[in-house]
Amino acid sequence: MKVLIVNGSPKGKYSCTLQTSLYLEKKFKDCEFTVLHCGQQIRKYEKDISLLIDAINAADLTVFSYPVYTFICPSQLHKIIRLLKENNCDFKGKFCTQISTSKHFYDATAHKYIEENALDLGFSYIKGLSADMDDLTTDKGQKEAVAFWKYVRHCMENGIAEQKINRELPAIPAFTASAAAVEKKEKFDTVIVTDAEDTDLNLLQMIEEFKAVYPYPVRIVNLREFPFDGGCLGCFKCAVSEKCVYKDGFDEYLRKTVQSADAFVYAFRIKDHSPGPVFKTFNDRQFCNGHRTVTMGKPVGYLISGHYTLEQNVRTVVEGRAQVGGNFFCGAASDDNDPTVGIAAMAQRLAYATETGYNQPADFYGVGGMKIFRDLIYVMRGLMKADHKFYKKHGFYDDLPNRQLGRLIAMQLVGGLMAMPQVQEKAGTYMNEGMLMPYKKALEKADKE
Ligand SMILES: Cc1cc2nc3c(=O)[nH]c(=O)nc-3n(C[C@H](O)[C@H](O)[C@H](O)COP(=O)(O)O)c2cc1C
Repeated sequence: MKVLIVNGSPKGKYSCTLQTSLYLEKKFKDCEFTVLHCGQQIRKYEKDISLLIDAINAADLTVFSYPVYTFICPSQLHKIIRLLKENNCDFKGKFCTQISTSKHFYDATAHKYIEENALDLGFSYIKGLSADMDDLTTDKGQKEAVAFWKYVRHCMENGIAEQKINRELPAIPAFTASAAAVEKKEKFDTVIVTDAEDTDLNLLQMIEEFKAVYPYPVRIVNLREFPFDGGCLGCFKCAVSEKCVYKDGFDEYLRKTVQSADAFVYAFRIKDHSPGPVFKTFNDRQFCNGHRTVTMGKPVGYLISGHYTLEQNVRTVVEGRAQVGGNFFCGAASDDNDPTVGIAAMAQRLAYATETGYNQPADFYGVGGMKIFRDLIYVMRGLMKADHKFYKKHGFYDDLPNRQLGRLIAMQLVGGLMAMPQVQEKAGTYMNEGMLMPYKKALEKADKE
């Protein structure tokens, strides 16, 4: 069996993720592995993508191997996917899967992104392996990798693959901004960050419509005008220095031009089931802020051109990013669903949240995500000093289980009492009453206020 590993990690042979494939190569001697360091050598593949296309065609199985980067995969791998799609590749009859490593923070959305694009490219796609960064160093992780490979082979031998959703996408009507500009109040600074090109007609018109109906002045930052030296290299040097190794000035641009605003609007056209490589470069490079939620409390809205209402994975990424960042999500207006109404509603929510500081407590997207970050930074605080300082200052460690001593003791006591048959008999009503005691206090307090 000929296996092609498309290594999307910018770290090339130093990729932790790649080690799983190298391990499998040793375990399955009848498989012939070829590794292409597409992430690290992105410029080479940008010049000539046929190197990769030929390699995929020569293999029986292609494995996308990559680290999860900010909810999806590294910008370099986004570029590879873009190039394959621009070349109208059709890999019908070829199998494909993926192996990622991460801390499981939004690994599901990364896998969905690869899956959706693999199916678009005609591959027979087999569900991939999402491993923790350290898994391969453990007995359990090694067994899981071997079991995964046996499963992949079983699927290939028996022609088992994920089913592509066959649906005709409705055409998106042309949109023209029509609202008259409302009078602007000078109080707040709002920035629209976009990667719009001249050909993104609907998106440009959506930006115009937003500017017209929004009651505050708006600055436009077009990411295509920033001279990025490249995508994040995953070198982690910024974890200590808080500075990126690139000399293109992105840290300062990000902090002074974008993050200084009171409110944010992100505007893009959906490409390959994602915001596309330019936005991904921008998002990945924000790793110079580590895991610090530096814009916490400021509202965000989105202007999206494309089939946003049908792109569930993009929706999860958009909402997840806002929640994990501690930003109030003011909605995403899209041109596949009455953009005039959507833009007006988003603009009103954004104005309200900017004026009042309104935010909503996070749901699972934010709470789950931040618990992963909290544990990660707590354990890695020796290295990630700036993150640790930020988390301490903002009380992000306060809900660590080992800090909830009072609750732990109380639960031991309740558990002990509940184990007694005589308590159990009467427990029903007492339990309910007892649980409501703190709530009663809140209601009584509200009466007095
Ligand atoms: C820019 C950047 C973004 C990252 N984003 C995520 C993420 O969203 N979720 C996650 O669980 N880990 C994230 N990580 C951690 C990497 O996925 C993890 O370190 C991975 O194992 C590195 O693999 P590699 O050595 O193959 O590049 C990120 C790391 C970097 C440098």
